Amino acid sequence: MIYSWQDLSQQVEVEVNQFDFSGKPAELYDPIGYTMRLGGKRIRPTLCLLAAQLFGGDLTKAMNLAMAVEVFHNFTLVHDDIMDEAPIRRGKPAVHVKWNRDVAILSGDVMFVQAYQLLAKGNPEKLSQMLTVFNQTAIEVCEGQQFDMNFETRDDVTAKDYIEMIRLKTAVLLACSLQLGAFESGASEKDAQLIYKFGEKIGIAFQIQDDFLDCYAKQEDFGKRVGGDIISNKKTFLMLTAMERADKNQSDRLDQLISTNSSDEEKVSGVLGMYNELNIPEITKSAMQDYFDESLAALDQIKAATELKQPLIELAEMLMMRKK
Ligand code: IPE
Ligand code: IPE
Ligand code: MG
Ligand code: MG
Ligand code: MG
Repeated sequence: MIYSWQDLSQQVEVEVNQFDFSGKPAELYDPIGYTMRLGGKRIRPTLCLLAAQLFGGDLTKAMNLAMAVEVFHNFTLVHDDIMDEAPIRRGKPAVHVKWNRDVAILSGDVMFVQAYQLLAKGNPEKLSQMLTVFNQTAIEVCEGQQFDMNFETRDDVTAKDYIEMIRLKTAVLLACSLQLGAFESGASEKDAQLIYKFGEKIGIAFQIQDDFLDCYAKQEDFGKRVGGDIISNKKTFLMLTAMERADKNQSDRLDQLISTNSSDEEKVSGVLGMYNELNIPEITKSAMQDYFDESLAALDQIKAATELKQPLIELAEMLMMRKK
């Protein structure tokens, strides 16, 4: 039987709910269970299991790796919300708001280590390869996060810089999740590289959609503060494209909005008005589509049955259409 991505994400959900995240002191462990059970989309663990299925592996064994990447991802969110001063995550107060910043730092640290504990349960023969990609990914995510913050105060960021920044902060973790599933299942080196490339491209498209949703999602769907990127002066795909396409007059207005002392609401609505004037939503969607197409080209080259690739394609399609 071939599992759909929905089946596998459901299995991840069950695993997360069964997993014991409790411990003492409560301030250290409660935020972990809280975060893990807030109900994310479980994309990374699902990708890990789909890759394990693609290469004929044992999904029960791959579940430890799936959990490792989900715990790692949730750790990055706990710390990201401190850095971004983001008040809400998945429709609930972020950990640094519900508890405090110190708690969010330390609970996050524990989650980072727990991710390694889970990773260590992977296929012993493949552990060295798994550690290599996981370590590299963890460092790259930090590099991406630092670039993301540096860019807030820089006005010379190019589209190329931006793509590299999101490749690091977001895409490599999707790629790593897939590659871990592939390693667990004994995929060939070539196929492990191709599935990584698929993940990288789909991850870039995924972050472009995240930037899009940050501006255009409905608050009740999104679960994060809509407009948060505009408020924090993030150099998103939308902002960079707007800066590039603006004429002198538009550029002055945009600069004024960015450096404004007006309220968050005024800033967000002003910038969104400029985006609409400059056709930014359409351009963003089309850039995202290009990366989506590149991801499918990589998947296509993998030596595996078409029926087994289908759930990956369907998950990728869902990621492009999602509202949260
Ligand atoms: C949010 O990731 C962080 C980004 C890399 C954009 P997700 O959109 O996968 O978050 P959850 O886990 O579903 O909440
Ligand atoms: C997320 O980037 C990247 C990491 C968490 C590593 P964002 O800052 O855009 O993620 P959200 O929008 O807060 O989920
Ligand atoms: Mg961030
Ligand atoms: Mg953020
Ligand atoms: Mg975002």
